[in-house]
Amino acid sequence: MVWAKEASRQKCHISLGFYFKSDRRLGQPVRWMIYNLPQRVIHKPMSCRVGERCLYYTPMEDVLTTWLEVDLGAIQHNYRLLRTISQRPVMAVIKANAYGHGISGVVPALIHVGAPWCGVARIEEALDVRQFDPDIQILVLGYTNPYWVDEAIAQGICLTVFDPITAEAYATRARALGRALRVHIKVDTGMGRLGVLSGEAVEFVRWLMDLRGLEVDGLYTHFARADESDPTPTLEQVRRFDGVVGALSALGLRPRWVHASNSAAIFNFPQARYDLVRAGIALYGLHPSPETPLPASFRPAMALKARLVSLKTLPPGSGVGYGHRYVTSGYERIGVVAAGYADGIRRVLGNEVLVRGRRVPVLGTPCMDQIMIQLDGVAQAKPGDEVVIFGRQGEACIPVEEVAQRWGTINYEVVTSMMARLPRIYSESHGEENE
Ligand SMILES: Cc1ncc(COP(=O)(O)O)c(C=O)c1O
Repeated sequence: MVWAKEASRQKCHISLGFYFKSDRRLGQPVRWMIYNLPQRVIHKPMSCRVGERCLYYTPMEDVLTTWLEVDLGAIQHNYRLLRTISQRPVMAVIKANAYGHGISGVVPALIHVGAPWCGVARIEEALDVRQFDPDIQILVLGYTNPYWVDEAIAQGICLTVFDPITAEAYATRARALGRALRVHIKVDTGMGRLGVLSGEAVEFVRWLMDLRGLEVDGLYTHFARADESDPTPTLEQVRRFDGVVGALSALGLRPRWVHASNSAAIFNFPQARYDLVRAGIALYGLHPSPETPLPASFRPAMALKARLVSLKTLPPGSGVGYGHRYVTSGYERIGVVAAGYADGIRRVLGNEVLVRGRRVPVLGTPCMDQIMIQLDGVAQAKPGDEVVIFGRQGEACIPVEEVAQRWGTINYEVVTSMMARLPRIYSESHGEENE
């Protein structure tokens, strides 16, 4: 607790306490060195042992060349908005390392604003989340091998069930332990992915409720097209799900938590909010789709930034980068930026970045660790300058959605493909305002 005390004396975010708690619990060398600034927490992997002094007050400019900046205040703000809009408890979907934003920052921030539930894809993610809070309810949305039943029960983690063989295996193990495993039953109402088909769901739930060893805590489905302008496919999914919920209610078997809505459905299908909504993309301030943009009050949380590390003038006819996919036409000022495809930037032509609030082109294809940029239009640029690959810089902004379009994908994939080697820098500058 020495560190937690020092953290609070220095007005750090309370979440610092969690890092130490979890590290102590594991009894491992501390893998995080934590840099703290008044409004900012930076942590990056370093070797530092439990009990060693590892709190530093070092400007990030001195230590990092490539990083992801994550505005935890924006995530908290978006969370509150979702709760107000849906008028329901919001399950924060934090799978895939909180959509790339980093669970070590995001989970404590969500707990701070009272998130009661979080959703993950895999049991390993659930166990990671559990380190941050003993109480938050965790649902594994994907398949879990029965091997993990002991751990799920011990850590109070809910698993998803959707087939009798796995359910039976879970129940057998739970009975052997003499304890019940909490489960949510998934119904496939039209996603064509995990779930018992809606026509078979009532029978499945009845059977499962009689299975000793399992405690049915929830029933849910997932929408395939709630973000589209045509509501017809989602209305059909809602109709099927309502049929299942209605039949179970008539039998007195309605589980405690019935849920269906993802971010898009929260906005487009208020009739499908049931007991709980599950929000992923909107939590991070990103649009569910072009047809379902978020209200302007939402704030994107992630920015990918790097330093300009070299600047020089190349003569006419010089090739730039692998394959010389760009050749200078005159004397050109070329900057080298310390970020590449091994950070998550796609190896495509036509990228742009921000330097000193100006948009400049990336030349040729990105390398593994670096990109080259054209700086003829930014006379004041100098090595050490911050370069924004996406996110805001002063008044200028490159939205994640624009990058996604350039990369031929969706915003979900852009943020979840940010690599592990990028330190996540957590800013808390706007946490409590605008509520
Ligand atoms: C089962 C389930 N629920 C909720 C979500 C959250 O979706 P979104 O990010 O669109 O809000 C996901 C994400 O893919 C999911 O798989």
